[in-house]
Amino acid sequence: MSLTKDEIIALLKDETHQQDLFDKADKVRRQYVGDEVHLRGLIEFSNICRNNCLYCGIRRGNAKAVRYRMSEDEVIETARRAVNLGFKTIVMQSGEDMYYDTSRMCRIIEAIKKFDVAITLSIGGRTYEEYKAFRAAGADRYLMRIETTDKALYHKLDPKMSWQHRYECLLTIKELGYELGSGIMVGLPEQSIESIAEDLLFLKEIGVDMAGIGPFIPHPQTPLAKEKGGTLNLSLRTMAIMRLLLPDINIPATTAMESLAPNGRIQALKAGANVVMPNVNEGEYRKLYELYPNKDCTQTAPAHTKSAVVQKILSINRTIGTGYGSHRK
Ligand code: 5AD
Repeated sequence: MSLTKDEIIALLKDETHQQDLFDKADKVRRQYVGDEVHLRGLIEFSNICRNNCLYCGIRRGNAKAVRYRMSEDEVIETARRAVNLGFKTIVMQSGEDMYYDTSRMCRIIEAIKKFDVAITLSIGGRTYEEYKAFRAAGADRYLMRIETTDKALYHKLDPKMSWQHRYECLLTIKELGYELGSGIMVGLPEQSIESIAEDLLFLKEIGVDMAGIGPFIPHPQTPLAKEKGGTLNLSLRTMAIMRLLLPDINIPATTAMESLAPNGRIQALKAGANVVMPNVNEGEYRKLYELYPNKDCTQTAPAHTKSAVVQKILSINRTIGTGYGSHRK
């Protein structure tokens, strides 16, 4: 469906009729991608990061963050267990940690690929050669949020990073034949409604296969600790409009939404989302990947986390995806 920027702005601002928007997005979701909810097993394998984004709890400058880095074997073992729990996609996410160089990443990807799963990477900005090598090793998808298309805001929040470079990474990833996931945070300091509308049009323009949209949640150990943060409702409206603009893509009910309300992800699944990414880290690693506070299920084991999510999904009359859950165009 095509919407003008002004129409998107009007929908973003309209709190009174947001239920109509959610219902519409839910209907479009059912028509285009059906009732299946695809589960992705999320391994957060390192919280070491070379960047210093003002909003992020694992920013380089957060001296209080307890850092960890899984060994190759630990990542592969975590993936193996997730596959045994039934996950058909493994998402490997980390800070921008260059310890995982090309050969190390490729070895991990090749090992996990043997488990017959789709592999998604979410490890930030890399070179063309690296993206190419990861793809050749078996990576199918790549997630990298643009965070905001307001370039001035991006450069304020992500010091020393280049918006243009990030954008070019997205184009490279797409060109190399990955399924491309991108997305934004909603409610960043000084982010306007107009700018969120532009973000949505940007994601449509580059033709993402997946769009992750979640509220910004201030982390107490960051420079943005005292900021207000995004609301669940505005994030849900943004996500629902994304569904209208790109009816057949994958849209996750994001973990950050669950952090703002106990049923945040279920609300999202009823407003256009069709994917959930439960954390499959083991033990201590579960709570140390703290991008923002109050993350869901940092205390429960992967098997329990997964069955709780499955139960909730079934309780709203949706089914669990049985395939890889690729973008079906
Ligand atoms: N609140 C919400 N989301 C955040 N992210 C990072 N920090 C925060 C925060 N404080 C998101 C970014 C990043 C993704 C992995 O997590 O959008 O791309």
